[in-house]
Amino acid sequence: MVHNGIEYGLMQLISEAYHLLKEGAGLNNDELHDLFATWNKGILRSFLIEIAATVFARRDDLTDGRLIDMISDVAHQKGTGKWASQNAMDLQVPIPLIDTAVAMRELSAFKEERKAAELKFAIAKEKVDVNKNTLIKDLEQALYFSFITTYAQGMALLAHASEEYKYDLNLADIASIWRGGCIIRASLLETILSAYSSQPKLANILVDDFFTKELIKAQTHIRSTIQSGVSLGIPVAAFSSSLSYFDSYRRAWLPTNLIQAQRDYFGAHTYERTDRPGIFHTQWD
Ligand code: 3PG
Repeated sequence: MVHNGIEYGLMQLISEAYHLLKEGAGLNNDELHDLFATWNKGILRSFLIEIAATVFARRDDLTDGRLIDMISDVAHQKGTGKWASQNAMDLQVPIPLIDTAVAMRELSAFKEERKAAELKFAIAKEKVDVNKNTLIKDLEQALYFSFITTYAQGMALLAHASEEYKYDLNLADIASIWRGGCIIRASLLETILSAYSSQPKLANILVDDFFTKELIKAQTHIRSTIQSGVSLGIPVAAFSSSLSYFDSYRRAWLPTNLIQAQRDYFGAHTYERTDRPGIFHTQWD
């Protein structure tokens, strides 16, 4: 189930990259094939990048075009990604990128509503100044960054589930199993395996020294990728979710004290203070 949740996340990210490359950078299917084939020789090397390259090259048997252009954009699901999200919420472990991937498949199924909405909210046709080569370079790093955060969320879910349900999972073994022959196999799993081999109790792979350095290097590129998507009006839900997870996880302070104050205000739900132990309630008005 968690494997498939990760799979949903990676596939959503790859589809967003496809959208940006197709409509933002104007790449045709041959160029997409070449780019994905090249990416598959570098930091993104993985089964899902490899098969995407093959998909772009596939000719359609029924028309003169490419098969990818004839496939309906309504994504189906058998439910395993949703189960991962449901279980993560039960355990109160955040896996927002996987949640987003589930939601985007669901949104894709609202085809008739989307068609009607497109007529109402005309998609801007004016040219936004996007440098094709910069976008391609940014995207490789943005995908790498977000592949890391996707595995991080899946592994964190397994770690917490193991704790809660006394599974005694060995995360290094799981990373090792996933390297061989499954859909989310990727060269990245080698480094995840090393991280858990040397630190079996690692709280999150984001704070493994190797991944910390990689994320710091890649973060400007994911920020630029998201900015490109936002200016072009191309949805980048999974990339945004990935960056927000990182930006939240690395902050010692979050604005959730205001949520606590409001909960106490309207529901006397109490709060804890930063300067002394105990449970407090205030008569706010
Ligand atoms: C798989 O083959 O990994 C899954 O069954 C795919 O799941 P989905 O049908 O929900 O995408």
